[in-house]
Amino acid sequence: MLTTVVASSKGGCGKSTLVTQMASYWSQAGKRTAIVDADRQQSSLRWAGRRPENSPSVAAVEGSRKAFDRVPDNTERVIVDTPAGVTERDLEPYLDKADVLLVPVLPSGFDLEATLDFLHMLRGIGRIKRGKLPVGLVGNRLKPWTNASQNSLTELAERAPFPVVAELRDSQAYVLLTGLGKGIFDYHSEQVRGHQEDWAKLLRWIKRHG
Ligand SMILES: Nc1ncnc2c1ncn2[C@@H]1O[C@H](COP(=O)(O)OP(=O)(O)O)[C@@H](O)[C@H]1O
Ligand SMILES: [Mg+2]
Repeated sequence: MLTTVVASSKGGCGKSTLVTQMASYWSQAGKRTAIVDADRQQSSLRWAGRRPENSPSVAAVEGSRKAFDRVPDNTERVIVDTPAGVTERDLEPYLDKADVLLVPVLPSGFDLEATLDFLHMLRGIGRIKRGKLPVGLVGNRLKPWTNASQNSLTELAERAPFPVVAELRDSQAYVLLTGLGKGIFDYHSEQVRGHQEDWAKLLRWIKRHG
């Protein structure tokens, strides 16, 4: 079982989007996939409930210390969604089971400072400090055609204690598909190909470290 935890101190940076898109990817790849949703808003859990009949299903359970006992037997991929403002203690039951940890980051200077504090907190956690739990940063909602977007990403890469493992574009496709219980990997059309390519590096990184 490969467990991916998605966390950030910030709300609205794309945690649930990352969780549901990866669930779309793994379920389409034929893996038995489950979401553990530790956020009280339960957006990922509700997304799994909206999944249409013609898309492979994704199991979902509420987060708790016992959550991993409640995911279906033989689950191959678990993705944990977490709320904003998590402390080291909140994360502990999930990080104990995690194979990789992903932190989405929006491209704004304001966001960067708060995220850096969070990243330094993470760096103090035992398994992370010992190099047992890889942490990857995901630049999200990037507008590659703007300087601001590029500069923020460069600054993040320079100042963060962890590598940037993906750059995801800003796109209404994510907003629309989330509402339908779907992800970009539930489609095979030309329109989503570029979006899917944004994820290739991240998916390779998870494979390598998971
Ligand atoms: N790459 C993206 N492009 C466009 N909108 C995005 C993108 N990522 C997230 N969003 C939107 O931003 C909002 C916050 O994202 P969400 O994943 O719910 O963040 P979090 O779970 O960290 O609070 C949602 O409306 C979501 O659809
Ligand atoms: Mg969320």
